[in-house]
Amino acid sequence: MDLHLKIWRQNGPADAGHFEDYEAVGINADMSFLEMLDVINEGLIDDGREPIVFDSDCREGICGTCGLMINGQAHGPEKGTATCQLHMRKFSHGDQVVIEPFRAAAFPVIRDLMVDRSPLDAVVAAGGYISANTGSAVDANSIQIPKTAADAAMDAAACIGCGACVAACPNSAGQLFTAAKIAHLNLLPQGQAERWSRTENMVETMEEFFGSCTNHGECEQACPKEISIDFIAYMNRDYIKAKVKNRKLIGQQ
Ligand code: SF4
Ligand code: FES
Repeated sequence: MDLHLKIWRQNGPADAGHFEDYEAVGINADMSFLEMLDVINEGLIDDGREPIVFDSDCREGICGTCGLMINGQAHGPEKGTATCQLHMRKFSHGDQVVIEPFRAAAFPVIRDLMVDRSPLDAVVAAGGYISANTGSAVDANSIQIPKTAADAAMDAAACIGCGACVAACPNSAGQLFTAAKIAHLNLLPQGQAERWSRTENMVETMEEFFGSCTNHGECEQACPKEISIDFIAYMNRDYIKAKVKNRKLIGQQ
């Protein structure tokens, strides 16, 4: 198939940026969206022009580094699918496809389609870990975990940290990402020791970088891992509890 592409080009953070038109000719329907961009880049390199800069790593929907606005949708038109797993069969011969970087004040453009998503790392660094003795490998079943809790923690742990929830939100809120990162630890026995400090630190770090949640629900729609906004309610509940419990613990010191 042949496609008309409008792609955002930006020389660096200080450049205003603009759209450029490209023709994608003879694209195979079984290619991924990123493979289609690889074809465009090979043509640009052959012509001695600058290739289009975009992020990717695993290309199998796990690492969260890919992420583009495709025709105005974070990760494009297929629900529950990261950009790297979107296939060209979702498009038709002759389509126009507009490709932009994720747009959010917390995600400044580095170059072309690549953005700086380090505020997501700052949220995780504020508490998205457990201080468990990892020693030698223990029997996987030595800590009994109720199936409902294990399933919910696993659903939250599916977050790949791509930032599409932020890009899709009219407020550029970081709630869905932060809620997923908090819930997958707070739901498990191993996560209890730091539950309240983790929740307070991660939520307050999130608030330094991202806008406020006003329950639009766009994050859930854009999420390639279909993380539920129910986790935001869970995070909010734990945050209120944390404010009380952390104060009590300080009083005991
Ligand atoms: S919650 Fe979904 S959209 Fe947000 S960072 Fe995680 S995987 Fe990406
Ligand atoms: S490149 Fe890793 S999730 Fe897309």
